[in-house]
Amino acid sequence: MDAPAPQAIHLDAYRKPDYRIESLALAFDLEPEATRVKSRLQIAYDGSPSDLSEAALPPLWLDGDDLKLLSVCVDGTPLDETEYRQDATGLSLDVTSPGFLLEIETEINPKANTRLEGLYISSGTFCTQCEAEGFRRITFFPDRPDVMTVYEVTLRADKALYPVLLSNGNLVESGDLPDGRHWTRWEDPFPKPSYLFAVVAGDLACVEDSFTTASGREVALRIFVEHGNEGRCAYGMDSLKRSMRWDEERFGLEYDLDLFNIVAVSDFNMGAMENKSLNVFNSKCVLADPDTATDADYASIEGIVAHEYFHNWTGNRVTCRDWFQLSLKEGLTVFRDQEFSADMRSAAVKRIQDVRSLRARQFPEDGGPTAHPVRPASYIEINNFYTATVYDKGAEVIRMMQGLLGREGFRKGMDLYFERHDGQAVTCDDFAAAMSDATGVDLNQFKLWYSQAGTPGVTVTGEYDAAARSFELTLSQTIPDTPGQSGKRPMHIPLDFALLDPDGQPMPLKLACEEAAPTSRVLELRAARQTFRFENLDHEPAVSINRGFSAPVNLSIEHTPATRAVLMGRDGDSFNRWETGQQYATGLLLEAVEAGGEGRQTPEALIDALRETLLDEAQDPAFRALALTLPGEAFLADQMKTVDVDAIHIAREKMRGDIARALRDELLETYRGMQSNAPFEPTADAAGKRALKNLALGYLTASGKAEMWDLAVVQSRNSDNMTDRMAALALLTDRQGPERDDCLQAFYQRYRDEPLVVDKWLALEAMSVLPGTLERVKGLLKHEAFTLTNPNKVRALIGVFAAGNPLRFHQADGSGYQFLADRIVELDRINPQTAARLIAPLGRWSRFDGARQALMRQALETILSAENLSPDVYELTSKSLT
Ligand code: ARG
Ligand code: ZN
Repeated sequence: MDAPAPQAIHLDAYRKPDYRIESLALAFDLEPEATRVKSRLQIAYDGSPSDLSEAALPPLWLDGDDLKLLSVCVDGTPLDETEYRQDATGLSLDVTSPGFLLEIETEINPKANTRLEGLYISSGTFCTQCEAEGFRRITFFPDRPDVMTVYEVTLRADKALYPVLLSNGNLVESGDLPDGRHWTRWEDPFPKPSYLFAVVAGDLACVEDSFTTASGREVALRIFVEHGNEGRCAYGMDSLKRSMRWDEERFGLEYDLDLFNIVAVSDFNMGAMENKSLNVFNSKCVLADPDTATDADYASIEGIVAHEYFHNWTGNRVTCRDWFQLSLKEGLTVFRDQEFSADMRSAAVKRIQDVRSLRARQFPEDGGPTAHPVRPASYIEINNFYTATVYDKGAEVIRMMQGLLGREGFRKGMDLYFERHDGQAVTCDDFAAAMSDATGVDLNQFKLWYSQAGTPGVTVTGEYDAAARSFELTLSQTIPDTPGQSGKRPMHIPLDFALLDPDGQPMPLKLACEEAAPTSRVLELRAARQTFRFENLDHEPAVSINRGFSAPVNLSIEHTPATRAVLMGRDGDSFNRWETGQQYATGLLLEAVEAGGEGRQTPEALIDALRETLLDEAQDPAFRALALTLPGEAFLADQMKTVDVDAIHIAREKMRGDIARALRDELLETYRGMQSNAPFEPTADAAGKRALKNLALGYLTASGKAEMWDLAVVQSRNSDNMTDRMAALALLTDRQGPERDDCLQAFYQRYRDEPLVVDKWLALEAMSVLPGTLERVKGLLKHEAFTLTNPNKVRALIGVFAAGNPLRFHQADGSGYQFLADRIVELDRINPQTAARLIAPLGRWSRFDGARQALMRQALETILSAENLSPDVYELTSKSLT
């Protein structure tokens, strides 16, 4: 890199803007290669009147990126070039009056916009992505979330090519123009920051429905899709209506306009975007039918539609003061969508899935070179901070607040937050203040969760004194050092807690200093070390702690075989039932890995517990499937000081084989018992049965009986839904032989015209544990189905290989690393945001053996030495090397 290293910006340096924008009118003449944008801004000085007497007003700064400036006028008079200064990042204007009208005309090239930030074209449709800083790629503007204004937007375009012209708010006027063009005008009455602005123009089909809010407002709901996809909107629409109802019931929050639009586009950097009344979605996150979407896709669509809808209040009506506060809206909105999905489906299953994903994505981030607090203190490129930490750990922070305040207290805090801050751009501190003021709960120490990075470790020990009939519980915490942070203060950690008797019944929890003896408590760990003494206990209890994963910590606790059996089989907290089994299997697997792989025979105690769960019809099939799924290879790797990918793979496969052979009859019975002849329904119940059936199929193929593979082949060909087909193919992709290639080939031929299914096919190839996988992935880069310009394709093939296939990505010769580095450099020139998201697996280098460390660092150096690196890739690569 010869150019100067990009500079970081700091939370401490926040200054409020000098100028207010009182209104904004935008007019677009849409042309793929030369779109004209006229903006009229009514501007007012926002300093105190006393500053005004001090001769000069400060200059006005307008951000701009990749714009062609055509003209600037102030109060109707064109500025000459001495009155403004332009550089690659924007425009600075001299100001002579505290109030004035600014008119700017710019030209942009949406067709050349491969970064997919700002205005771009996806399959012939104009669309926008303005969060975080895309608006400055459309026109010159103070592109920061604390500058809010009302927008009036006029769109003009060719009528035949772009019959649909959409923006935020209400459609107020439309008409025809000469030369086959037409126009629409939109007004959004709610002041908003520029990141929530959106425009869509294209030839799209529309699916319509409506919703009546609690207070009787009739809202038109529309989903716009490419022609031919109309039949894939029903589930998204239903999810939207359920979200709208749920937010009214749970939080008293109603929708505030007469129209709500969703548009599906096929080229999108992220999942979806909450633009006011005009959500734009990655088509993967909204389109579904049984033939092309899996149960997991349905569940994710339900959650993402809800997430974007919930942003209307947590994000749009109340927004972020600056991007350091991103978790203010994202953590809170993830928490809200998690609660919604928990209410729509099984809450216990949802919690386990969320914790699994937190551990798979956030814990490694928190323990690696790019670790950052939920509210970061500095960044180079804000797009790099749309992370698992800001989103998912941020959601855990909100969940802990609800745990400390209780559900009712939490609702009071939410009410106060909206009462105080509706229409404002605020901070995480403002949110915590509302929670604390509404309930009187002191959150000062708790707020360290926003500023201290790293996953706390909590160690639990207990001692039972039979003579005194007492139990002493000692909790201690340590917060690991992370880049730029060491010597941290103890956190305020809420731990849901119970003591169980041998039947799994909760015992009374009487503390020495208190009379009350409830059967469950929230223990608040605030010091580095704390002891609690419980009295009147007739036998040694089993400790059920951090129930429901009440705090996002690494817990370390030893169980005796007897207490483990109680927790695994009879804990009323299903999360801990699952967790205890996982811990048990993890311990055994790590032991085997230490021994180089196979280890000893899987103990009867584990097999018996799994058998009991498998056959326990009182439990939800979805829960049984999760309880029988062994900890993943990445999770196991994360528990090791020095990762051994080969030994992990061998140990886990060996244990799967042991379980499969020991439980073969029961598994076959389950496989058959969970079959259904009913037509596919995407309900949680039906999905749970499919999950258990496919879990059984997975074990059966691992049992060493060749004919079990026939079940998978038949299922991949004959099932009537994508869930079952994919489950079978995911097994087949790991098995060498002609059936594998035939099945995958047949799958591709059947779905070659369905981009979202082709993504699944690419991911199947990328996930395969077979030795030739990297070569096949390289070959697929040249396949007609692949292109680097589409983020979904990139993630399906390259992303899945690097992040989802540890065995092959980490193959000892380093070819996986070099492959990834080369692709990142190549993609950085097309789409830096998506390129940067591929770096993380290389950043894990310090956890591997010396030879791999050197190869991984070398791959990072390859990236860093490329010319004209984007700030996105520069920031994450350079941080990964330190
Ligand atoms: N706010 C969107 C969400 O709901 C994410 C969009 C972020 N996009 C980006 N390019 N950084 O999560
Ligand atoms: Zn969001």
